[in-house]
Amino acid sequence: KFQDRVFSGIQPSGGLTLGNYLGAMRRFVDWQDRGLKEGFETIFCMVDLHAITVWQDPAALRRQTRELAAAYIASGLDPEKSILFNQSQVPEHAQLAWIFNCVARMGWMQRMTQWKDKAGKNSQNASLGLFAYPALMAADILIYHATHVPVGEDQKQHVELTRDIAAKFNHDYGQDFFPLTEPVIEGTATRVMSLRDGTKKMSKSDPSDMARINLTDDADAIANKIRKARTDPEALPSEAEGLEGRAEARNLVTIYAALAGTDVDSVLRDFGGRQFSEFKPALGELAVEKLAPISTRMAQLMETPNEIDRIIGRGAEKAREIAEPILKDTYELVGM
Ligand code: ADP
Ligand code: NA
Repeated sequence: KFQDRVFSGIQPSGGLTLGNYLGAMRRFVDWQDRGLKEGFETIFCMVDLHAITVWQDPAALRRQTRELAAAYIASGLDPEKSILFNQSQVPEHAQLAWIFNCVARMGWMQRMTQWKDKAGKNSQNASLGLFAYPALMAADILIYHATHVPVGEDQKQHVELTRDIAAKFNHDYGQDFFPLTEPVIEGTATRVMSLRDGTKKMSKSDPSDMARINLTDDADAIANKIRKARTDPEALPSEAEGLEGRAEARNLVTIYAALAGTDVDSVLRDFGGRQFSEFKPALGELAVEKLAPISTRMAQLMETPNEIDRIIGRGAEKAREIAEPILKDTYELVGM
């Protein structure tokens, strides 16, 4: 009943990281190309309504939203091939989210690990929006009847909750109206870790992590951060099992594999037995080769913010063409 359609989003909540690129953007580009070949739509969004679940400086939010659009384009998303837009410009997201707030249960939200992590011990002081975040995310996906959502590992639980919301809505309103969307978590780098601590996720929402690689970093900054990345004193193993218990080593090898478009085993075939003093410069060179052109292109695009605004404004129009009738049908089912 449901045609294939791909949706995903990223929050304009800070400097984009290597984790966002490897876990999300780079894969969006693969989906775009596949969609073009197989004839399905791909929709990618800057989710600014999600970003403000924690306070954002308004001027910074505006800049980060444009910067994220520039990063999408610099990474290879093409506004003629995919729909690229800003969430708040398509009001149907927020409208469907309200319906889902009334479908989802408090207990479901309380179990979300991102809520627990981000709200921390002082959860009474967290915004209501932060708590309801997964219901808005379900609306982002289901307002397009999207069937597949490429995300990093950290978002798996939210996509599963999206399925629960769709199933409960379908049950409550007696129709097979929303698809049960699949999270697509594939590729080598679905969870890139911090370069200063291999047990923590590299995140743009963690401003204290100065070691993270940002997509706006120039060649020198990228090479420096890789050089300073935490490692252990052992040589690299020749097989993946040898990375057991060596979070930092595993992370760097995984990053190499993802950037080179290969897998961990093949990287270890080349580098097994060698020291980090040899591996790090090779990784640095590869990272610069792959990432520096993106930051250069982003900077160029940011020189003409009006052009970025025009592109995403056009994207919002295309997105609304899909979202409007689905919201209308939803209201109809609910009795409005
Ligand atoms: P962040 O957690 O950096 O603030 P978002 O929550 O906006 O980023 O997530 C945007 C996308 O990037 C999601 O698909 C998420 O799973 C992915 N992502 C974020 N951090 C990483 C990471 N360290 N490794 C792999 N994917 C990641
Ligand atoms: Na995240």
